[in-house]
Amino acid sequence: MTGYWDIHNHILPGVDDGSGSLQETLELVKNEHDQGIRHIVFTPHYRRGMFEVAQEEKAVVFARVYETLAEQFPDMHFYLGCEYYADPHMMRRIGPDDSYRMPGGDAVLTEFGYEMKFGTLMNVVNALRKEDIIPIMAHIERYQCLLKDMDLLTELKEAGAMLQINCDSVIGKSGFKAKRYCMKALEAGLIDFVASDAHNTGSRNVHMGEAIKTIRSKIGEDAAEKLFRINPERLFAGYEMHRSLS
Ligand SMILES: [Fe+2]
Repeated sequence: MTGYWDIHNHILPGVDDGSGSLQETLELVKNEHDQGIRHIVFTPHYRRGMFEVAQEEKAVVFARVYETLAEQFPDMHFYLGCEYYADPHMMRRIGPDDSYRMPGGDAVLTEFGYEMKFGTLMNVVNALRKEDIIPIMAHIERYQCLLKDMDLLTELKEAGAMLQINCDSVIGKSGFKAKRYCMKALEAGLIDFVASDAHNTGSRNVHMGEAIKTIRSKIGEDAAEKLFRINPERLFAGYEMHRSLS
């Protein structure tokens, strides 16, 4: 298996606040392809009271869009996941229903409230680990409690969490502070995934290529391989659409 992965984005059309049409989806996927990505895990939001499109409905949209994508991008692979916003009912929902999980069912891409306390983050991580689920913490550079103390990232990793940051933060599009924090965490080897979190062809477009280039030159080729290929392959390889349909 070859090619880099984008494991967090809102490119699937009409299911959350991401892409609004098939045309926008095709443009975003083309951008991914142009920037070296060959595997895309679509991760539409699930957030109680805000983004509640049923998982089955997302699967129907995915199956429909997949036909077009497979035809237009024959060297790419597409997968369906979810970005789950942590809430008190999380374990009751995710436990019995693995459609909220990432491909393969071993991990949940988990988003938290930006002001959430560290103790609460840790409780969610522990609850998921207790069920043998790997929490992939989405864009960790956004959570206030983690910005104050980088040692907390080590604590989360020791508890079994995997950590994701957004490429916009790596390339400075989210401000100098976010970039400095991300580069420090990358240098310390604390980050497991860098993803686009792309929402549209405007202000939240795909910037994977620039992030890959930055990481290659500032952190090293091995780090880029680990972040964009080896780690995603380890968790998600083998669970693409055509396999799950057959
Ligand atoms: Fe997201």
